[in-house]
Amino acid sequence: MLTVAKPKRVASAIFSFTILLYSQVASAALTLPLRSKKGMVVSAHPLASEAGILMLRKGGNAVDAAVATTFALSVVEPFSAGIGGGGFLLMHSEKTGDMKALDFRERAPLKATRNMYLDAAGKVSPNASINGYLAVGTPGTVAGLYEVHRRYGKLSWREVMKPAIALAKDGFILSDMVTWRSLQANDPRKQVVLNNPAAREIFTRNGEFYQPGEKLVQRDLARTLTAIAENPQSFYTGSIARAIASDMVKNGGLISLEDLKAYKPIWRTPVCGNFRKAKICSMPPPSSGGVHLLQILNIIGDTDLKSLGWHHPDAIHLMVEAMKIAYSDRSKYLGDPDFVKVPVQELLSPAYAKKRRQEINMQMARPSTEVKPGDLNSKCLRLPSSSPASSPCLPHESLQTTHLTVVDGEHNAVSLTFTINLIFGAGIVTPGTGIVLNNEMDDFAAAPGVPNAFGLVGNDANSIAPRKTPLSSMTPTIVTENGHFRMAAGAPGGSTIITQVLQVILNVLEYNMDVGAAVSVPRIHHQWLPDELRVESWGLDALTLQDLRRRGHKIKETTPWGNGNAIAVTSDGTLEGAADPRGEGSPRGL
Ligand code: DON
Repeated sequence: MLTVAKPKRVASAIFSFTILLYSQVASAALTLPLRSKKGMVVSAHPLASEAGILMLRKGGNAVDAAVATTFALSVVEPFSAGIGGGGFLLMHSEKTGDMKALDFRERAPLKATRNMYLDAAGKVSPNASINGYLAVGTPGTVAGLYEVHRRYGKLSWREVMKPAIALAKDGFILSDMVTWRSLQANDPRKQVVLNNPAAREIFTRNGEFYQPGEKLVQRDLARTLTAIAENPQSFYTGSIARAIASDMVKNGGLISLEDLKAYKPIWRTPVCGNFRKAKICSMPPPSSGGVHLLQILNIIGDTDLKSLGWHHPDAIHLMVEAMKIAYSDRSKYLGDPDFVKVPVQELLSPAYAKKRRQEINMQMARPSTEVKPGDLNSKCLRLPSSSPASSPCLPHESLQTTHLTVVDGEHNAVSLTFTINLIFGAGIVTPGTGIVLNNEMDDFAAAPGVPNAFGLVGNDANSIAPRKTPLSSMTPTIVTENGHFRMAAGAPGGSTIITQVLQVILNVLEYNMDVGAAVSVPRIHHQWLPDELRVESWGLDALTLQDLRRRGHKIKETTPWGNGNAIAVTSDGTLEGAADPRGEGSPRGL
């Protein structure tokens, strides 16, 4: 009954490319998918995947496994995601075909104000929304996990929390992970963590971060998780809430007992659209992920990418021009739907996709200054025309945030992405709790047109207001065919999440890759501003790069990004799961 084997990574030599002319593609290591008939969990950490598969072995369902994996990730990736942050969950019931979306993202505190990050001169204070107490949004992870488990879990709440408590109490061996490594060196956020006494105490030995190979024990976090196992409300109204609120008061933070008490996860209607014979459902606002994933697919429309060939310059060009359009619309229209009207239907209408498709010149890249958010108010869907916009180029963040994908024996599926935003969030641990607090407030537009840490710009729709949810790019996605589970995917990576998920889905649905190849092969990214086409170094061959440059794309070769995972079902009903080889995740199967 057991097929637990770490998938082997194999050289790309075995991967055949369709178009001879463009076949000198670089040496990405492909991961082989794990196969199982009975259930699968894939996450960004092997120990978290183990926690999930244990629940399936005990007779739990996809929700039990997802909740156990999420809590376990909170312990083994404390720098990336956790109970001090928030996220989104999408779930599919194979029996009813129902798709549900849960929003347990952080909310702005009651005392937050639109201009809270502006200095006296009206300028955004650098790092105010990134480091320290003012950067923190009211966390939602515990409430979200409890809500989905209360409704749909089969095993007990205490049972699904057990593996995480054990990992925190007994410790686990730190791996040679990019994020830990970056903290050994000169990561600009290192000092922020060191400045916080509780964080320094847990993650360093006298100011030196624990090294890969060493064991990290998180006793405070174990106690906190035990309290949550006994009473999940302790996070929002009990001793944990009091610890968070009193530390906030002492340090000029805004989150109060009232904020914590008022926190509610929200069930939302997923956004869904058709692509070829598949129905693709994803996270609606306040994530921008689902809307723009579907918008890009709509713009690609019935263009036969497959016969062009994987990563053919025409296919890349079309995707990139569609990405620019989507991210420019994001900057104007996307925000928290409980505060602003987000024109989801209009953005996803076939007529709008068709209009915007007509803007694309297949021979020439459009400079981002010429790509504008569409005019959705006009009955004739007038295309944009005026003034340029600009944005400074910011460094790309790497592997924070985390995604997990679970499919149980009945093919019920959960796709869940959660985060504390940047590495070690706001750089704050609430004393005595082991909870690393998020810096999700940076996902708001601190001022119109001023880019956040991911270079994303926004406007009124994503301005700050009390209890409002900052706009996200997280894109947990589930694909069905004829009402049955086909695949699920998601990823971390800030602004690149949407385009990562897009490419993984196209790799499976359009290019017939197995999920191992789909999460491994080189990728591209464009987010409108800055006007650059990011390409993984060694990801495209010289002829393709030359062709794209000739069309006017400003290519920026960068280190690889992303750390997602996916599960798909093959025609004989076998589940295939794989984690991105850029990270250390792995699948576990029953
Ligand atoms: O919600 C968002 O879009 C971001 N806070 C996600 C952050 C992230 O993926 C960090 N990873 N590099």
